[in-house]
Amino acid sequence: MKRQTLAALIALLLLTFPVNLMAERADYCVIPLPKSLTTDDTKTFFLHSGQGISYDAGNPEIARNAQFLRTWVREITGVSLTLTPDDKHAAIRLNTGLAADKNVKGRKAKNKKEKRKAPAALTAQQQEAYVITVDGSGIEINARMPIGLFRAAQTLRKSLPVTQEADSVELPYTRISDEPRFAYRGAMLDCARHYFSVETIKNYIDILALHGCNQFHWHLTEDQGWRFEVQALPELAKKGSVREQTVIGHNTGVYDGQRYGGYYSQAECRELVNYAAARYINIIPEIDLPGHMMGALHVFPNLGCTGGPYPVCTRWGVMNEVLCAGNPETITFLKTVLGELCDVFPSKYIHIGGDECPKTRWKQCPKCQAKAKALGLKDDGKHSVENQLQSWINHEMESFLQARGRNIIGWDEVLEGGLTDDGIVMSWRGVKGGIEAARQHHRVIMSPTTFCYIDYYQLRDRGLQPDAIGGYLPLSQVYSFEPLAADVLSEEEQKYILGPQVNLWTEYIAYPQHLFYMLLPRLDAISEVQWCYPGQKDFEGFKSRLPQMLKIYDLMGFSYCRKYE
Ligand code: ACM
Ligand code: ZN
Repeated sequence: MKRQTLAALIALLLLTFPVNLMAERADYCVIPLPKSLTTDDTKTFFLHSGQGISYDAGNPEIARNAQFLRTWVREITGVSLTLTPDDKHAAIRLNTGLAADKNVKGRKAKNKKEKRKAPAALTAQQQEAYVITVDGSGIEINARMPIGLFRAAQTLRKSLPVTQEADSVELPYTRISDEPRFAYRGAMLDCARHYFSVETIKNYIDILALHGCNQFHWHLTEDQGWRFEVQALPELAKKGSVREQTVIGHNTGVYDGQRYGGYYSQAECRELVNYAAARYINIIPEIDLPGHMMGALHVFPNLGCTGGPYPVCTRWGVMNEVLCAGNPETITFLKTVLGELCDVFPSKYIHIGGDECPKTRWKQCPKCQAKAKALGLKDDGKHSVENQLQSWINHEMESFLQARGRNIIGWDEVLEGGLTDDGIVMSWRGVKGGIEAARQHHRVIMSPTTFCYIDYYQLRDRGLQPDAIGGYLPLSQVYSFEPLAADVLSEEEQKYILGPQVNLWTEYIAYPQHLFYMLLPRLDAISEVQWCYPGQKDFEGFKSRLPQMLKIYDLMGFSYCRKYE
């Protein structure tokens, strides 16, 4: 072929397919890594602006997921798709129902009866399963339930090249089949030491959803501020949320002289519940009791053993002033609070805290001691009288909440006075509390400081980071966490471990940028602990997949720690 003819041919080709030749490629090696992924890089499908997303228009939940996908594809790539419900020939097709089980390996219903019953028999993880197939006909997503479509849409979102202004992107043929390892995949945010806006919490929820998390544990009350509106007790949040000033640094004795406050109205809480639910995230509210209560004691000093007065705390630490266990008004107060909490938060789990409750006052308080006597509490060599008194409060709260169809979660101190009937233990002082609870056949969430406290420094060189509470928890350490404690727990006992959670306490974090810097990319690491099986995990591979996530954070305007160890 003559050189001019060849040049003309190339020019013609460029004119005919200008976009395709410039299209950037998708890469399905996302975080968290899917369970199974087979890609053929030699064949690709081109996704163009103007192509459609098909879905079941009769189902608003699925329609919402289709809309999410459309928005994300546009944000990440620039490709503008249209919603084309019930179009079998659309470029992207979202399918749900039992048909998905033909594609999800090992779950094909055996007969008509099983087909009818199948959804009820599914584990939480199986309900989230999905399959993505990319071939010459486009992108087909099959899931059992709408939640699976959402998970698939997130995987597709993270797979796409961050081009922002492209008209077309190229997707290698692939088959991805995925479901999470753990049913519970949580992250906690302390909005009591510092208040974060509803907008920031929505961002936090978006980031959790991007990582496949499904539980947002919201720490709402503290010594330094009460942040949940209780309508029967209007003064509680109004006054209990405000501290006169805040200590500078690590309890230096020097204060900033600035009043600090803020709380969440019930309308705002409901807005967040709905926002999270649309992203398949449950909000677990925490009212930390009977310690960490100075915000409430400030407003109701009669609920303390000494009668106060109690200022809302202006410094950090564990305070001796706690709710009086011997005052019946304490129980009435807590039931009023938890009653309204249940009205606002539909979560099956309600966190009642229970950590760091010194017994100094209880030991000397006539009311507390009289209560212990009336209950017949005796030191049995394993549980002190005062620890049993705390356990009695936990039982009171548990039966109150059980009557409303809820289960309690407590920090691992709840083991010290004897565990309640159906309480879930959140193991934070290492994994030993979780192990003990699992052995007693109690459900467990693993969030030990050693792997899950992302308020700790993330780099060895403290000079490179903002001030933090202490410790050292680099990315690699979070990534290395194995929550099942298989070396000491039997297979049967391991079943009680629901999953892992990271905790972000905010004594030293006052602004959203700092918050996201602490969260990212350590949330990426925990997301693989939560989602992937040990055989899939590989820190080097994980690090090679991280830059794509960082591009997404840049695009969304989230700060993150750029160096990692
Ligand atoms: C805790 O970190 N005090 C639960
Ligand atoms: Zn007392």
